[in-house]
Formats: sequence, C-alpha cells, structure tokens
Amino acid sequence: MANHVWRYWLSACVAILEVFASPNTLRATWPNGPFVTSGRWIHDAAGSTVTYVGVNWPGSLDTMIPEGLQYQSIQSIVSKIKSLGMNTIRLTYATEMIDQYYDNDETDVTIQKALTNALGQDSGRAVYDKIIANNPSFNDETTRLEVYDAIAAECAKQEIYIHLDNHISKAGWCCSPLDGNSWWGDEFFNIDNWTRGLSFMATHGKTWPSLTSMSLRNELRIPLNNVTFASSSYSWERWYTYVKQGSSAIHKANGDVLIFLSGLDSDQDLSPVVNGTALTPGSATFSQGDFSGFANKLVLELHAYDNIFGPGPSNCTTVKVKLFNAGLKALTDEAENQFPVVLTEFGLLQNGTASQDPYISCLLDYVPSANAGWMIWEIGGSYYIREGTQDQDESW
Ligand SMILES: *[C@@H]1O[C@H](CO)[C@@H](O)[C@H](O)[C@H]1NC(C)=O
Ligand SMILES: *[C@@H]1O[C@H](CO)[C@@H](O)[C@H](O)[C@H]1NC(C)=O
Ligand SMILES: *[C@@H]1O[C@H](CO)[C@@H](O)[C@H](O)[C@H]1NC(C)=O
Ligand SMILES: *[C@@H]1O[C@H](CO)[C@@H](O)[C@H](O)[C@H]1NC(C)=O
Ligand SMILES: *[C@@H]1O[C@H](CO)[C@@H](O)[C@H](O)[C@H]1NC(C)=O
Repeated sequence: MANHVWRYWLSACVAILEVFASPNTLRATWPNGPFVTSGRWIHDAAGSTVTYVGVNWPGSLDTMIPEGLQYQSIQSIVSKIKSLGMNTIRLTYATEMIDQYYDNDETDVTIQKALTNALGQDSGRAVYDKIIANNPSFNDETTRLEVYDAIAAECAKQEIYIHLDNHISKAGWCCSPLDGNSWWGDEFFNIDNWTRGLSFMATHGKTWPSLTSMSLRNELRIPLNNVTFASSSYSWERWYTYVKQGSSAIHKANGDVLIFLSGLDSDQDLSPVVNGTALTPGSATFSQGDFSGFANKLVLELHAYDNIFGPGPSNCTTVKVKLFNAGLKALTDEAENQFPVVLTEFGLLQNGTASQDPYISCLLDYVPSANAGWMIWEIGGSYYIREGTQDQDESW
C-alpha cells in the first residue's frame, strides 16, 4: 500500500515536471521519430520541423560494401559529416546484396569474400587488410550487412539520420539508360526481387534507431537497351503501379520510415505528381487515398546536376524555373499536391575544372530559401572498384 502511494506521488511529480519543463530540458530520445509529413513539412514526434541536409555514401557498387573504409574508420567518416553541420547520410545499397543473401541460404556474404569476388585474390586481400587496419572491430567473419549495421550504430551515436537508398539492382556504377537497371522489368530490374529487397531492408533497418527514411528507387529512366520494351512500359501510369507496390512493401515491413518517391527522366521530373495531372497514358491522377494509412509518410526526391539546364548560358532565373517545375513547386501553395521535397543528389566536379556557376550559386541560394532538404554527391574519395578500375578517384 505504502509502495502504491509512493508510486502515485512519484508519477504525479513527474507529470508536473513534464508540464513545466521546457522542451529542451525534456528532450526526447534522438531521433524523436517516427517522422511524418504534414503538407510540405517533415515533422518529428514532437511536431518540430526536420530538414534533411547531408551527403551521399555509396555502398551499391560492385563490392556492395560502403566505400572508403580502406582509408578511414566509420567513426572518423561520420565525425567529419557531423563536423560539417550535416544531419543525414543517404546510404545506397544494391538489390543484388539481398538476392545473394537468399541465394546463400539466408546468410550474407563476408566483406573478405565480397572484396575477393570484385577485386581478385591479391587486391581483394590488400584492401581487406586496410579496411581491418582502419576498422579493427571487423574481421574475416564480418558481412556486408554488418558493415551497414556498424554505420547505422555510429550514426545513432553521433545523431545522424540514415536515408537508405535502393540505388540499383545489379551492383555497380549507376545510372546509364543502357545498364539494364533503368526501369521495372528491365534486364536486371526484376520486380519481385525489388519488392523483396525493399521489405528485407525495411525489416532489417528496424534495429537501427538512426533509420528515418527509405527510397523506392534511384533515378528511374528510359530503358534504351530495348526500345520495344521502353515504348510499351516507360510511362507515368506504370510508375504509379510500381510506386504503390513498393511503398506498401516498405510500409508493411516497417511502419515508421518515411518513403521517398523519385520521378522520371533520372529523377528530374515529378510534374504530374505535383500538378495532379493525368498519369499518362491513363487518366488516373495521384491520390493520397491510394496510400491508405501512410499518406503522411511520402516525400518527393529530385536530382539536379548542371546538365539538366541544357547547353549554353543559363542564369538564376532559368535554374529556379527549371527546379520549380521539376518538383520544388510541391513546397508551395501553387501545387495541387504538396509534399516535402529533398534534393537527394546534386553536386559538382571538384578537381579544379571550370566553374559551374550560375548553377551552383543559384542552388545554394534557392534550395535553402525554399526549405528543401538536400544531400550532396558524395563523401567517398574513391571507389574500391568502379567500371573496372580499382581505387578510381571520385572527382565529384
Ligand atoms: C532474383 O533473385 C534471385 C535469388 O533469389 C537471383 O538468383 C536472380 O538472379 C535475381 N534476378 C535478377 C533479375 O537479378
Ligand atoms: C525487348 O522487349 C520486348 C518487350 O518487352 C521483349 O519481348 C523482348 O524479348 C526484349 N528483347 C530483348 C533482347 O531482351
Ligand atoms: C506542371 O506545372 C508547371 C508549372 O508550374 C508546368 O510548367 C508543367 O508543364 C506542368 N506539368 C504537367 C505535367 O502538367
Ligand atoms: C536568363 O536566361 C534565359 C534563357 O537563356 C533568358 O531568356 C533570360 O532573359 C535570362 N534572364 C536574365 C535575367 O538574364
Ligand atoms: C576532372 O574530372 C573529370 C571527370 O571525372 C575529368 O573528365 C577531367 O579531366 C578532370 N579534370 C582534371 C583537371 O583533372
């Protein structure tokens, strides 16, 4: 009885403290999720606005191991991201990683084997030794997924959100319209494998406190390796079918994460979604009702490199108009359908070549003023292997 009274008083005191404490002293556990959307904003569980600002970290090339670990520890890479004031990484993975898991008796491949497979015996061993030297908690039993887990744990420690991105099906450098990974049903882009991969990563990511969002697919594009297939399948109508399928696969597996939808033309066009016009060749339009129970989880993502502005002179007006019509309009009252928008890729050559103004200075001005999120391409200085070249430098 005494115990009961004491507990009553204790809980009453806690309740009073909660009422009077400022939000800062009563800070909820980071990341204070699950996040939801409200119109054009992303909110945390306390209703505070969240704006993603961060950097891409690729893990979807041939080795399927997040890049750069032969040069730095995970802890030092995440610390550098944090020191820049960023709050997010866009961590990419290939569907093939999950396919191999299922082909391999539901066991992931070790990083040692993955490196040997991609780089050959000698280079694979040498790079493996460097990864272990920098990241001594790994060993010859560590799998690729355990590297993702270690990144997720470090991000949780340093309070960096993870946006997990399905970048490609067959692991490798992305994204040419000829690479067989362009569109649902393309040579390597098997639809069942894709939904299985989304569900798998959504389920796996439930153990990561840092995971706050996932994409459906990076840079959807016309599959030019087969024009017959392209003309019969590349459309907004098909886009909508598969976007509904993929997003419900993620939501069923993990009801907490935000789900990012990317547009056509290598994620440079979201206009019928934003304008609420027909998803051609059909006449249906984008409807929140088609995402019953999780319409408040959908975010739009857009990519913008300077080549989208076409050859010849451009100025800030043309840059803004182009970005607005491509998708940033969703952040405004002019949109039929409002959404938060994140520029999940943009970037510039950083090896001393010509200036990319006005593109980059306009972006630096416009994107923050529109309150869009952004993630620059990319943190790794090189790739274990890219398009056949080992330790290839990343000039972006
Ligand atoms: C789909 O996954 C299976 C393993 O379950 C794999 O054998 C097959 O090659 C994958 N399909 C494609 C097109 O990648
Ligand atoms: C090209 O696509 C068409 C239509 O989907 C299909 O019937 C055909 O087999 C494909 N050709 C090749 C070479 O894959
Ligand atoms: C959407 O609206 C913009 C103007 O904000 C316009 O430029 C664009 O063509 C429209 N797109 C579609 C598909 O209606
Ligand atoms: C910006 O560029 C466009 C197209 O090149 C041109 O029509 C327009 O006049 C330019 N605007 C300014 C303010 O220079
Ligand atoms: C910078 O990188 C680009 C693309 O990787 C390459 O074409 C160019 O030659 C490089 N420039 C210099 C100065 O190294």
